[in-house]
Amino acid sequence: MVGRGMLARINGINLAYTDHGQGLPVVFVHAFPLNRVMWAPQVEALAGGYRVITADLRGHGESDAPLWRYTLEQFADDLRGLLDHLNIPRAVFVGLSMGGYTLFAFYRKYADRVQGLVLADTRAQADTEEGRTGRFNMAQAAYRQGASAIADVMLPKLLSPAALQGRPGLVQQVRGIITATQISGIAGDLMAMAERPDSTLLLKEIACPTLVIVGELDQATPPADARAMAEGIRGARLEVIHGAAHLANLEQPEAFNQALVKFLERVRG
Ligand code: MLT
Repeated sequence: MVGRGMLARINGINLAYTDHGQGLPVVFVHAFPLNRVMWAPQVEALAGGYRVITADLRGHGESDAPLWRYTLEQFADDLRGLLDHLNIPRAVFVGLSMGGYTLFAFYRKYADRVQGLVLADTRAQADTEEGRTGRFNMAQAAYRQGASAIADVMLPKLLSPAALQGRPGLVQQVRGIITATQISGIAGDLMAMAERPDSTLLLKEIACPTLVIVGELDQATPPADARAMAEGIRGARLEVIHGAAHLANLEQPEAFNQALVKFLERVRG
C-alpha cells in the first residue's frame, strides 16, 4: 500500500509522498535514518477511513538528498509546502522520534495547520553536549564507513532484544531502509537534530488534541520522557505500547494502531 511515491517540487527539491484514502488528513513523519516505508502498517490500517499521507523528508527514501540545508525548520517548511501542494488546510500529524522533533518545529511555525498531534517515541529536550558529540561522531562514521555502519549502530537502539533475535524479517526490513539512505541525508539529519532547540517550554503552548505514544522498552526516548511530555501538554493522553522498543509502530503495529485510531476518532468527533 505504501508503494512508489509521487513527487512534488517543493522548496527547490523533489519531495516524495503517498496519498491514500479520503476524510480527515493524517500526515506521517518518519524517524532517523528511515523513510516513509516505516509507516506501512499504519497506512494499511487507516486508509479505509482517513486521508493518509506519508512523506519522505529531504535526504530520505525517494526524495532528493541535496548536500546541505538540513534543519528541523527546513523539514517543517517542506511539510508545509507539501500540505499546500495537496490543498490541505489542516491535518493531524504523527511523528516518531526525529519525526516528533520535526513536529515541534512545525508547530512553532505553523500551529494553525495542526488539527492534532501524535508524538511517538520522541522527546522535548534538546541534545546534551555529550549527545551532540555523539551525533558528530556518527556523521563522521557515515561519511567514512557508509550507511551499513549506521545500521549496525542504530538497530539495537530501534528494536527490542526480542525482535533483534526473533524477528529476522523485521530486522532485515529496517536494515534495508537504513542502508538505502544517502549519506548526505544521514549527516544532514544528525546536524539538524544536534542543533534543535529545547521544546520543553513549547509544550504548554500546544493547544490541539495530543496523543503521546511510547514503547515500554524504548531506551532512545524512554517512557519517562514521554510521561513528562504528556504531563506538560494540556489534555494530552499517554499510551505505553507493551513489548515494543523505539520503533513501536513497527514492532507492535496492532497496539500502536489501536491507540492511534482511538485518538483519531476523538479528533474527528
Ligand atoms: C530517531 O529514531 O529518529 C532517532 O533515534 C532520534 C535521535 O537520535 O534522537
